[in-house]
Amino acid sequence: MNPPRRTALVTGGNRGLGAAIARALHDAGHRVIIAHTPGNTTVGQWQQQQVAQGYSFVAYGVDVSDYESAQDLARRIHTDGHRIDILVNNAGITRDATLHKLDKAGWDAVLRTNLDSMFNVTKPLIDSMIERGWGRIINISSINGSKGQFGQTNYSAAKAGIHGFTKALALEMARKGVTVNTVSPGYLATEMVMAVREDIRQKIIDAIPVGRLGQPDEIAALVVFIASDAAAFMTGSNIAMNGGQHMY
Ligand code: CAA
Repeated sequence: MNPPRRTALVTGGNRGLGAAIARALHDAGHRVIIAHTPGNTTVGQWQQQQVAQGYSFVAYGVDVSDYESAQDLARRIHTDGHRIDILVNNAGITRDATLHKLDKAGWDAVLRTNLDSMFNVTKPLIDSMIERGWGRIINISSINGSKGQFGQTNYSAAKAGIHGFTKALALEMARKGVTVNTVSPGYLATEMVMAVREDIRQKIIDAIPVGRLGQPDEIAALVVFIASDAAAFMTGSNIAMNGGQHMY
């Protein structure tokens, strides 16, 4: 028997890790909605490219750092007749600088986009999961939320906060058929990591025991498992995949 077809929402689903997750969930037979930053003019073209490769994604604009915008996203999704079963809170940014050089704007932007977004996006979607007695919330954190990283006080704080959010919500949802988990990827071959200065990036890669960056598809396969019925006993977990760079 085929596994049930669910509806998934992946924030930041049009690029990097988010796009890999969106495709993998689509491959698993789910209907996939992606959320992108409002006013992104390249999404239409990206959607067409995906169609040419056999992927059909519904797309909505949202500023995940803004509660009103996230509420509006949920309203539009529901008005269009979708009910989200699988939420992947993936959207995130970096503003790397040592604390000495980090300004308030760089702190706020990362905390709002990476951490406030957990509340903003999850809150208006969770009631419908509870009503239907089934849901999967998968929050994308980072190795640097566990181990810290030079130049990332903002990002490490936000990513560590994600797992606190996950654990508390997992307890609240434990009897309601909704699992809540964190996935903490290490350094992946994505634009975000490629933006790190080359000499620094090379040092980071040299410190990864398996000797390479991870592939977004490797993380996406894990997300597909967590989203499945088979993973019903997994909740409140933080699953790391980082090539052996940080073990705990
Ligand atoms: N530990 C100790 N000292 C370090 C260090 C480290 N890890 N890294 C740098 N330093 C030292 C340098 O040697 C240098 O010392 P001197 O002044 O004595 O020469 C000093 O600190 C300043 O270092 P930088 O030249 O790097 O400082 P900068 O201001 O030019 O750059 C930075 C700061 C932009 C934060 C840069 O260090 C950097 O890019 N760091 C990497 C940040 C990173 O890993 N980002 C990940 C982005 S991808 C992502 O986040 C996805 C994910 O989840 C993994």
